[in-house]
Parts: sequence; structure tokens; C-alpha cells
Amino acid sequence: MSCSLRPLRHAHRARLEQLTRDTGLFREEEVQTAVELLDESLGGDDDYQFVGAFDGDRLLGYACWGPTPGTAGTWDLYWIVVDRERQGRGLGTELLEEVEQRLTTHDARLIVVETSSRPDYEPTRKFYEARGYTKAATIADYYAPGDDLVIYTKDPRGDLARAAP
Ligand SMILES: CC(C)(COP(=O)(O)OP(=O)(O)OC[C@H]1O[C@@H](n2cnc3c(N)ncnc32)[C@H](O)[C@@H]1OP(=O)(O)O)[C@@H](O)C(=O)NCCC(=O)NCCS
Repeated sequence: MSCSLRPLRHAHRARLEQLTRDTGLFREEEVQTAVELLDESLGGDDDYQFVGAFDGDRLLGYACWGPTPGTAGTWDLYWIVVDRERQGRGLGTELLEEVEQRLTTHDARLIVVETSSRPDYEPTRKFYEARGYTKAATIADYYAPGDDLVIYTKDPRGDLARAAP
């Protein structure tokens, strides 16, 4: 699918909220957190950076990441979301690769992703695992009883080293 990756603007706020909610995976509180992070970012807070995937003017997905406070070279991928109707067609991979590419210019050495152990997150975990993310830790019952925190990490420099001639 051809799409363009561009910055997000205030005009995309409602669509970002809808996209995030419509995945059916996130609690309402989490949806509001995504919107708040966009507000912070648009307000000039460099701790939260966004990129959107667009088909024309229509926002189809986005990623949000930022430097992990108190670390040297560690970054959190806070959000990656693709329109439910457009999942499985490569957009998430494009967004993830864009984030990784941008981070290599910041001397990033570790990307950290937090997700859930719930069965409905299995495609999400497979998505990360197939893209070089390694399960680094789990915290049992973190989100709720039976819903563990699963932490994946990746050194984004690895892909570059492999791609070098
Ligand atoms: C996870 C997500 C961002 C991946 O984006 P995507 O555009 O669907 O992913 P791609 O098309 O680039 O890659 C597809 C791969 O991701 C996985 N995948 C995850 N969710 C999928 C879905 N709903 N449909 C198809 N594949 C999915 C599959 O393992 C697939 O593997 P394959 O390449 O071997 O076929 C997207 O599915 C999504 O928004 N999911 C809901 C929100 C979410 O879980 N976000 C991460 C929170 S931690």
C-alpha cells in the first residue's frame, strides 16, 4: 500500500483518538493517554515524538516514541497503531522502520516496547518478534490479574550493521 509518513498536526487529534479506540485493544484511559501525549508533543515537548502514516489526507496509523528519562541512549516506543481496516498490509512495519531509522541518528542503542500478555495481543507480540524485538522481561499480573507486562527490546544499530556492504 502506498502511503506517506508525515508529522501529525492538531487537525489529526480526533482521528488519532478514533484510530486508537477502534483497535479494540486499549482501555479508555490508555486511549486518552495517547491523545495527551500528542497534545504534549504538539505543545513542543520533545519527550514525545510522533509520525503519522497517511493515505492522502487520511491518517491511517501513527507511532509515538521518546527518550527514556534517566538513561543514555535508551528510547521508549510508546505507541504504534494502525487503522483496524488496514492492518496486516505493511503499514505498521513502515512506521516501525521509520522510528528505528530516526533513532539511529540519535545514537539510540536500545528501544524498549511494553505490551501485554493477553491473548488478544498475540498478533502484536508476533509483530515485534518478527521485526527483531526480543522478549527481555515479564512482570506477572502487572496490568491486571492474569495480564502480564511483556517488555521487548531491540538494538536498532543491529539492522544497520547487517545492511552495511
Ligand atoms: C501491531 C500493529 C501496529 C502492526 O501494524 P500492521 O500494519 O498490522 O503490521 P504489518 O502489516 O506491517 O505486519 C503484519 C505482521 O504483524 C502481525 N500483526 C499484528 N496485528 C495484525 C493484524 N491485525 N493483522 C495482520 N497482521 C497483524 C502479524 O504477525 C503480521 O505478520 P507477517 O508479517 O508475518 O504477516 C497493528 O496491527 C495494530 O495497530 N495493532 C493494534 C494496536 C497494537 O497492538 N499496538 C501495539 C501496542 S503495544
